[in-house]
Parts: sequence; C-alpha cells; structure tokens
Amino acid sequence: MGESAGAKRPKAAKPGPGVDPVAILSAMTATPPVSSSSTHLAAARRTLALPTPPKIGVRIAGTGSQLPSRVVSNADIATIVDTNDEWIHQRTGIRERRVCDPTKGESNRWLCAESLRKALADAKMQATELDLIICGTITQDMRCPSTACLVAGDLKAGTAAAWDLGAACSSFVYALNTAHDLIRMGNYRAIGVIGCDTVSVLVDYTNRGVCILFGDGAGAAVLRATDDQTKGCIAQINHADGSSWPDLYMPGEDWMIPEGADRSTHKSGCLQMNGKAVFKFAVSTFQELIQQTLDKAGLSAGEVDLYVCHQSNMRILEAARDKFGIPEHKLLTNIERVGNTSAGSVPLLLDEIARQGKIKEGMKVMFVAFGAGLTWSSSLWQV
Ligand code: UT7
Repeated sequence: MGESAGAKRPKAAKPGPGVDPVAILSAMTATPPVSSSSTHLAAARRTLALPTPPKIGVRIAGTGSQLPSRVVSNADIATIVDTNDEWIHQRTGIRERRVCDPTKGESNRWLCAESLRKALADAKMQATELDLIICGTITQDMRCPSTACLVAGDLKAGTAAAWDLGAACSSFVYALNTAHDLIRMGNYRAIGVIGCDTVSVLVDYTNRGVCILFGDGAGAAVLRATDDQTKGCIAQINHADGSSWPDLYMPGEDWMIPEGADRSTHKSGCLQMNGKAVFKFAVSTFQELIQQTLDKAGLSAGEVDLYVCHQSNMRILEAARDKFGIPEHKLLTNIERVGNTSAGSVPLLLDEIARQGKIKEGMKVMFVAFGAGLTWSSSLWQV
C-alpha cells in the first residue's frame, strides 16, 4: 500500500471508545520512510474508516403536560360495570383517571397544544423557533390534517414541519428517538415532541377488562441542539412485532375483526384487548428492554438515575423494580392518579418529575414504553 519494502509501521491503537481518531492518524502519518506521504495518509484513512464522532449534543430544553378537567374515579366506573375500587387498585394500581370533557373544549388537539405551549414556556422559547413538531398519538380528533399541523397552527409555529407518529403507547419514546437523531444529524435545531392520547374515545364503557385502565392526557418536550456533546441519547431501542396486533387493536368496522375472534364481544370503533396476553408480553418485554438498553450503553441498572416508564399497570412496573433492584425513588409512578394515558404516559410523568426538580444536569434517564402494535421502545439519555 505504497510503503517501501522493509519499512515498519508503528502499531496504531485499536479504535474504540475514548480513542481520538486525529491522534491515531497523526501516529500513522509519522511513520518512518515511506515512498509517498500523501498515498500513505489516504491509505491510513481508508484503513481506519472511523465513524464521524457526533458534533451536536441534544438537550431537553423544556417539558410540559396537560390533563383534562374531568376526574373519573373507580367508584364512578363501578356505577357502570360490575367492579369495585379494591379490585381495580389491587390489579392495576389505579384509583382515578382523567377524561376529556368536550363541552369545555377539551380534546386531543387541545391537550397537545397546551402541553407543547407549556414546554415552550419552560424552554423560554417561541413556537416560531421550532423547526419541527412531532405528535405521537393514535387518537387524533381529525384524520386529516395531522394533529401536529393543528398544533402548529394553534401555537403559530410558522412553517415548522409537522407530522404525527403512531406507535400507540410507545409513540412518545419512538418520537423522542426520531427527534433526537434528526437533531444529531444536523438537519434540525429545535423540535417539539408531543405524546398524547384520548383513549376514552375508543373505550367501550361496558367492557370492564378495558375501561378500568385508560385515561386521557398529554405531555411534551422541546429538544434543542447544544454544543455540549455529552448531552443526548446514549442508547435507544425501537421494535415492533406486527404479527401480534390482534392482542390490542381497534377495528374501525366489522370486516376488520380478525378471524377467530369472538364477534359477539367485539364492537367496531372500540378498543379490543387480550389483557392476559398483553400483560405477559409487557412484563417480559419491559425487563428485556431495560436490560438490552443497559447493555448497549455499557451501564448497570444502578448507574441509571431515573427510569421514566409507561404507566400501564402498577404490577408491571413493580416487576421491573424487583427484577433490577431499582429503588422506588428512581422509578416513580403516577398511575394511581391518571391511569394508563397511552402515548401521554411517559411525557406526562417526565414533566411531573421535572417540575418537582428531580432531574438534575448530567443525570442518566431511561425512558421505556410498550403498547399496541405490538411496539416497544427505550431511550437512555444523559440530560
Ligand atoms: O398500555 C397498553 C397495554 N395494556 C396493558 O398493559 C394491559 C395489560 N393487562 C392488564 O393490565 C390486566 O390484564 C388487566 C388489568 C386488564 C386485567 O387484570 P388480570 O389480573 O389479568 O385479570 P383477568 O383478566 O385475569 O381476570 C381475573 C378475574 C376474572 O374472573 P374469574 O374468571 O377469575 O372469575 C375476571 O372476570 O377478574 C375478573 N375481572 C374483574 N373483576 C372485577 C376482570 N376485570 C374485572 C374488573 N372488576 N374490572
């Protein structure tokens, strides 16, 4: 490769974490007699083929959230279906949830807009400073246009790009990873990420296996580029198993009901859930997801400062705490007060934790979610 016969090249350090590619190149170019230094340099560059280190850090500049005004307690649900507060609390950890009141103008769009408005205020930014709005939701008020576009209009975000992302309860974490990587690549400087669902519009309130779980709610985060390269996502995982969709879905019309399903218990327009199957999937997936993310980052469970997890069922969260020995103050919950808010769950909790001053600079925070699809996603940050 252009070296003179017999010339010995000094051994270059093996590229790896913490190794400066510029230093390696310098060491290689300092090689004694070569026939052509420029040929040698080119060869060295080819041999190294190092990935360009990221030059842009990403920070969570602000958070916000919004809940509807109407409180629906377990006692309220017990007036509709055969259940009681004790059963619901024991099996899910939920005491009450919030549901939109359309007579007060509460809707998916309103929740999304308010949560992003608050996140922008927290970041001390104007909506016009956003380059993009991603709204994670599967319960849009309108099929067209996207909720993100409606929010961009409501907040006067100028010509910021806007789209919705649908991964059910995993939507926010999927969107967070997407937004992070778009900023990291240098194409965007500021992105508003929203997670919101108004699952109450999909719930059959005569189905006690489903109606006890869900509530409405939204949260948002504003991500910004920063020169501090230590900030941003350290490891992320996004997956789906599309073959398991019949475990949790909403058939718009009767023909969408899959073969073999009990048609007498299915209602088009209403959420169908195989609670036991989803529970089993959730317990194992949650734990695998946390472990895989830790492995990817080369960290132990104890080195993560906070786990912000999808509030699906208290028993699923407790199983994860037990498995990894995570103390309660590192895996906080709000399911008792808000129920399962699907895509709203993770950002809603994030905002609550942030406003309590529990997120400090430099902390490692892991976001974890799973949901219909089936989908699952994690995002481990140094904030
Ligand atoms: O975020 C999206 C993903 N979704 C989830 O994470 C949901 C995962 N699944 C779950 O959280 C749980 O499966 C449920 C909370 C939905 C149900 O709890 P479970 O412990 O799996 O109950 P089960 O379906 O095994 O039912 C146990 C018993 C049954 O009675 P029998 O057959 O033992 O006599 C049910 O009929 O409890 C009965 N039951 C209820 N009783 C009072 C089911 N729902 C209720 C109810 N109130 N609401």
